[in-house]
Amino acid sequence: MANAYTNRKLSARYPTDLPAWKKLAAHHKDDMRNKALRELFARDKKRAERFSLNAGDLTLDYSKNHVNATTMKSLAQLAKQSDVPAAIEAMFTGEQINQTEGRAVLHVALRSKISDMVALDTPGVREVWEVLTRMEAFVDGVQSGKIRGSTRKKITDIVNIGIGGSDLGPVMASRALRPYWKKELRFHSVSNIDGTQLDDLVEELDPERTLFVVCSKTFTTQETMVNARAARDWVVDKLDAVAVQYHFVAASTNHEALDEFGIRSDYRFGFWDWVGGRYSMWSAVGLSLALVIGMENFRRILSGGRRMDLHFRQAPMDENMPVLLAMLGIWYNNFFGAQSQAILPYTNRLDRFPAYLQQLQMESSGKSVRMDGKPVRCDTGMIIWGEAGSNAQHSFMQLMHQGTRFVPVDFLLPRTSKLATANCRAQARALMEGTTNDSIEAYRVHAGNRPSNTIHFKSLTPETLGQLIALYEHKVFVEGVVWGIDSFDQWGVELGKKLAQ
Ligand code: F6P
Repeated sequence: MANAYTNRKLSARYPTDLPAWKKLAAHHKDDMRNKALRELFARDKKRAERFSLNAGDLTLDYSKNHVNATTMKSLAQLAKQSDVPAAIEAMFTGEQINQTEGRAVLHVALRSKISDMVALDTPGVREVWEVLTRMEAFVDGVQSGKIRGSTRKKITDIVNIGIGGSDLGPVMASRALRPYWKKELRFHSVSNIDGTQLDDLVEELDPERTLFVVCSKTFTTQETMVNARAARDWVVDKLDAVAVQYHFVAASTNHEALDEFGIRSDYRFGFWDWVGGRYSMWSAVGLSLALVIGMENFRRILSGGRRMDLHFRQAPMDENMPVLLAMLGIWYNNFFGAQSQAILPYTNRLDRFPAYLQQLQMESSGKSVRMDGKPVRCDTGMIIWGEAGSNAQHSFMQLMHQGTRFVPVDFLLPRTSKLATANCRAQARALMEGTTNDSIEAYRVHAGNRPSNTIHFKSLTPETLGQLIALYEHKVFVEGVVWGIDSFDQWGVELGKKLAQ
């Protein structure tokens, strides 16, 4: 694959030199910095409608942001001047856009159909559907009881062992899709280094009915190896050495390490170097999830992701949801100086979604050097944090309403609970409007003018979850393209790993 985009990118200008960036800087200073959101709503009765966008099953209401038509036009221009359209094409066609690791970035291939022609020439891409078929046979086998433990008992407990991208995706999605769990199957996870998770978990597990899914792209990550060996010792102790073959399955790209650990060949599910850890839940890393929700539902997540991919690849910059979300992020980060962003899902089922996005965004965008090796000249990734609403309202939201920090919010809202919807809308409105009553005491005043996006959807299904995850994956990618950083490496975590060894 010729690297037309990546080669050009090496000599790209700094984003701060682009005409659209300069225009936005002036627009921020002269027009928007001190404009009250209340005023923008008062002037335009159709604002909520005008500043709202649909993609797949998701609606993005971005009306409560410090933007007007000029802002949105300039942000779209900045995306174009930053070569975002070419970068999107470069990703889908398999260019090595992860330049520091010399790799293509093709998590989109994991959820594509062969007819989408996503980088079919890249080694491994044509194996995607074969691995999915093998996963399907395995998942069906476990669920039907055809595949059993070493003593022929049916498997009831699935334990995902992994960390980072090999943990957060399956954990977040299994919690999100709790109503889809098959009867008599339970999901558990072990990730942390100190051993207490496994110690506590095995207290409630029956070794004869437990299947460990060891997920690790490299199969060398210390935490995962320590936990996997401890789980293996437990199985050997409670059953016998032969049982390891029946109670351990693995998702990895490192076949030699799997030999060494004792994973039998038909219990191995591979993926490829073009799948980054934090983008891997669509691959065999999703096996533990698929085991509890069933392969049909797992494929529905993939199809949701694909739906967002098609939108991302086809929609013009000013009607492209991931691009819009990214450019609004840049607007607050680089022009308003926001240091952090809160993610507040108004369903408890998405309680691990903020943690999932923390890795996705902060590991991808926590960079201070550009792809050409030069230091960046503007801030990059924001600090991402959050909690499920309405728990958030009773802990940290005081700071967001009346504190000195400027924290833009993304509310995620399935419209399934009237009370949750009312609370979410009330928070977005209170942040935006504040209170206008002059006669109240100073400590009661809400200044308002605090921006938020609301992404709403009918209900949390495998498809909507897939769309949401893909939306944020692409958002992160677009921000990285504008800043000129490599969003797909993570050299910063390597030093600590080495020192710990
Ligand atoms: O923490 C760094 C990291 O490399 C993440 O990017 C990754 O998700 C995690 O470690 C786990 O890596 P592996 O899947 O190779 O065990």
